[in-house]
This record gives sequence, structure tokens and C-alpha cells, in this order.
Amino acid sequence: TRIKDLLSAENSGDVTGPVNVKGWVKTVRSSGGVAFVQINDGSTLADLQVVVGADCPDYSLVNGLTTGCSVSADGVLQDSLGRGQKFEIVAASLELIGGADPEEYPLQKKRHTLEFLRELAHLRPRTNTFGAVARVRNAMAFGIHKFFQERGFLYIQTPIITASDAEGAGAMFRATTLDLNNLPLAEGLVDNDADFFGRPAFLTVSGQLEAEIFAQAMSDVYTFGPTFRAENSNTSRHLAEFWMVEPEVAFCDLDGLAQLAEDFLRNLFSHVLETCPEDLAFFNRFYDKELVQTLEDIANSDFERMTYTEAVAALQASGESFEYPVEWGADLQSEHERYLTERKVGRPVIVTDYPSSIKAFYMRLNDDGETVRALDVLVPRIGEIIGGSQREERLDVLQRRMAEAGLDDAPYWWYLDLRRYGTAPHAGFGLGFERTVQFATGMQNIRDIIAFPRTPRNAEF
Ligand code: 4AD
Ligand code: MG
Repeated sequence: TRIKDLLSAENSGDVTGPVNVKGWVKTVRSSGGVAFVQINDGSTLADLQVVVGADCPDYSLVNGLTTGCSVSADGVLQDSLGRGQKFEIVAASLELIGGADPEEYPLQKKRHTLEFLRELAHLRPRTNTFGAVARVRNAMAFGIHKFFQERGFLYIQTPIITASDAEGAGAMFRATTLDLNNLPLAEGLVDNDADFFGRPAFLTVSGQLEAEIFAQAMSDVYTFGPTFRAENSNTSRHLAEFWMVEPEVAFCDLDGLAQLAEDFLRNLFSHVLETCPEDLAFFNRFYDKELVQTLEDIANSDFERMTYTEAVAALQASGESFEYPVEWGADLQSEHERYLTERKVGRPVIVTDYPSSIKAFYMRLNDDGETVRALDVLVPRIGEIIGGSQREERLDVLQRRMAEAGLDDAPYWWYLDLRRYGTAPHAGFGLGFERTVQFATGMQNIRDIIAFPRTPRNAEF
């Protein structure tokens, strides 16, 4: 039986008969010939207390039980006499499945720093914090599918190995064939001629361009998968490998897209509030005292909307001394994004219509010839969590934009074909999944949101 199901019973008597629980020992305490063993199986934040009395035939095992051991216990659920838990299991039998030498096991009762735990990617899921992150992440992934499925979006899978640079930004990892039977090559020597079977290939930065193919046939689609950026950024919100959710909607303009982004985020935060109350209470207690309030506020109020030009004016009028200067035409830095969403409006902001010069080639050019139908959604503490746009559906304008961006038409022939045959207005965005989970948990560092973070300095596992 999962511990979550036992602890969520109304009354201990509702769980009839002996149950079996299996999990990992958090702590063991003995007093007056009775041992109290806290075990956790990952199903919920709370540990289950297993009481092993001297009359239990396996009582002699308790001396060998230490933090990290795996155990199985049979017993009956009862109201707990002790403080700290409602129910406990009184063990009729106990089995030690796997020991964990206390001299060696790196996780101890005390709280460890997140930095220390980052070196232990194989054990940190056993801690309260990483267990809670894993459960919230799971709930949010499910909530994302639920939102789009309920609205009739088709879930599509786009390739990880690709020939095209979807952002036109040139920060991609290259996929290279290595002959592992000829190992000297792997030891530092990269054979640049041996790409993907003789052709250039990269790890995708975004599934957008392929999602556009499907939107131009199935109308409303979304992807949800890993994407890769070769930026050398060591910040608390950048990963080299992260997951992105990318809806793409046919016959949709920028206003429709902004509405979708807002509905989506509000729905997602409501979903996590509903499905993970214990875990959110934990994050609220240990990581961000305003977390639950912030999520509730976001779920219940409209987002602010402003154009890039208005945002620049607001930043210039703010009287703040920013590290990066604010001038029309420069990209907004994280300090600017945070000022807008935290101080200027105090809730999420959708910034639209950025200068074409700082945005990707595929964004639809406005009539002013200078700005594009782009949107970014900014949230407090993190800054940008969504980037998207209405797409350029006019062949001639798109070709001109690509030429200006210095992009060769040839690898994009199929993308241009979509504008030749039955072109239609369409729009989409990408949500950074880890940034969104980071926001929903109040965690400071994105490296603690993904199980195996890949950053310029960290990819050991
Ligand atoms: O703004 P970006 O680069 O947009 C795109 O890739 C579009 N093709 C998406 C689309 O329109 N379908 O990235 C989208 C989001 C960002 O807002 C951010 O949340 C996240 O992806 N992101 C990162 N998250 C973690 N680490 C990184 N290095 C990230 N780069 C982008
Ligand atoms: Mg962006």
C-alpha cells in the first residue's frame, strides 16, 4: 500500500486489516523497548511511522535499521498516540531489504545544502525537497497535457536531431558520429567531418518549426519535450537541456495567443494548487513564505499587457539604476523583466511587439516595419517563462526577413513551402517547463528542478 493512501484516510479504522508498506528509512528512534521507524516511499511528503514493539518477532532487526535502509513492514493502521502524526502502523512483522552503512551513506538526518545535494543526483530524490519537486513536476506535466487535451489540441512529437536552427540564433549542439570501436577519437578528438552520416545535424533548440507543419494540417497542436541550448550561461534560470511545451495554433493572431498563454498559466497554477497542497505548503514554509498566496493571486487575476515600447518607457521613467542600459532596440534583461513584473505591476506581464532586430526571423512583421508580433510572458522572481509570436505567413516577407537575418533559404525549403501552399495565419509559444516549475515551487535554482541538470559546469550523471 502506498503511504499516501494510508495517510489520506479519514479514520484509521477505514483501512481494515493488515497492510504492507515498503519504503526507505528516514529516522529510527527507540524508547522504552519500542522503536519508532519513519519510512517514506515517495508517494507523499509525510513519513509513515512504523512502531515496532518488543513483542514483534522482528524486534531484533531494529538495531540494524539506519537512515537509507529499505524495509518492508506488515501491520495495522492505528491512531497515533504520539504528537506529529495522525496515524501509525503497528508492525506485526518487519523485513530489512537493503542496508545502508551509516558510516558511508551520505544523507543524514540533518538538513543538507542544495549545493551539496547537487553532487548526489542519485540520492537526492530521497530528500523531502527533491521528492516534493519531483511530485510537483509530475503534477504540472500532467496538468499541461490535461489543459491542451481538454481543448482539443493534438499532442505531437517533434525530432531532437534536426538540420535546422529554429531560432536562427546559432547556439546549438552538434550531433556527431563517433566510432566507439575506434576510441582514441572519443578521447578529446572530435572528427568534424563525420557529422550525422555525412550531413550536418544538431540537437533541436525548439520543436516550433515542425509544430508549424502540423498546425497547418491539424489546426491546434502542442509538443512537450526536451530542447537544447549551447549558450554558455551559468545562471539560476538557464540549462543546456530543458523541457519546453510548445502549442501552435492555426487561424490565431497575437491577441488570441496572449489569451491562450494567460488561460494556460492560470489553469496550470490552479491545477498545482489543487493537486499538490502538502508539497506547496512545504515549499511555502521552507523556501518562499509568499508562495501559495502568489500562486493563488495569479490563478485568480488578469495578467497585465503592455507593448515593448511601453515597457521601455516605463523602465526609463522608473528612476532605477539598472546594470544594463534601457534603450529602445535593446533586449530586455532579466533585471528589467523583474522590475516590470515585480515592482511596476506586481503580477504577470505579457510584453508584446518587440523590435524585429532582437527577435527571430519567423515572427510576423508589423505594419510599422520595425516591430514584430512577439510576446513574452514575465513572472515575478523568474522573468521570462514564455516566449512566442504570431508567425510570418507571407512568403515574400518571410524570405526578406530570412535574407536580412543572413539565413540560407535552402535548409528551410519545406518551411517556405508551408507559405506557398494554403498559408494561414498562425501563432504559438514555448513555455520553459523548468522555469515554470521553479516558479511554482519557489526554488531558487533551476538546477534543482530537473533531475539531472546539464549546464556548462554540471553534467556528471
Ligand atoms: O523564448 P524561446 O527561445 O522561444 C522559442 O524557442 C520559440 N521557438 C518557442 C515557440 O514559439 N514555440 O524559449 C521559450 C522558453 C523561454 O521563455 C524560457 O522559459 C525557456 O523556453 N528557455 C529556457 N529555459 C531554461 N534554460 C534555457 N537555457 C532556456 N532558454 C529558453
Ligand atoms: Mg525568449
